Amino acid sequence: MRQLEEKEIKELIETALTQRNFSYAPYSQFRVGAALLAKNNQIFTGCNVENAAYSPGNCAERTAFFKAVSEGVREFDAICVVGGKEEKLTDFAAPCGVCRQVMMEFCEPDFTIILATDTENFQCFSLKELLPMGFGPKNLD
Ligand code: THU
Repeated sequence: MRQLEEKEIKELIETALTQRNFSYAPYSQFRVGAALLAKNNQIFTGCNVENAAYSPGNCAERTAFFKAVSEGVREFDAICVVGGKEEKLTDFAAPCGVCRQVMMEFCEPDFTIILATDTENFQCFSLKELLPMGFGPKNLD
């Protein structure tokens, strides 16, 4: 795993917070933003995009992953996720199980997941911590 510098973490948090402004969440009012750092140093952003039929909705994390993969980028170091109903965030928004599984597809066990409310309040987890004993591509070898 690449050790992230404090400056990089803060940039990811700021990017995710900005991206959260684009969230389309008229049904839950739970607005989520994500900033995904690729190994080539590109940052891919995402927000949640809900739908009147509910199930077609997409999470912020998967939006970011699918944007990256659809542009040919498949190697990642970290993702920052910020979310909540209020304008000012008070709690960390942890990735849902489906998003953790998408991370499992493309990331190493030490991929970093940064949960934040603002640039001063954040916590880093590894994918292995948030998805222990996950099923991934290696299981099909
Ligand atoms: N959501 C995300 O975008 N990411 C998460 O990690 C958790 C949930 C979205 C999905 C839905 O639009 C809203 O938050 C409420 O579940």
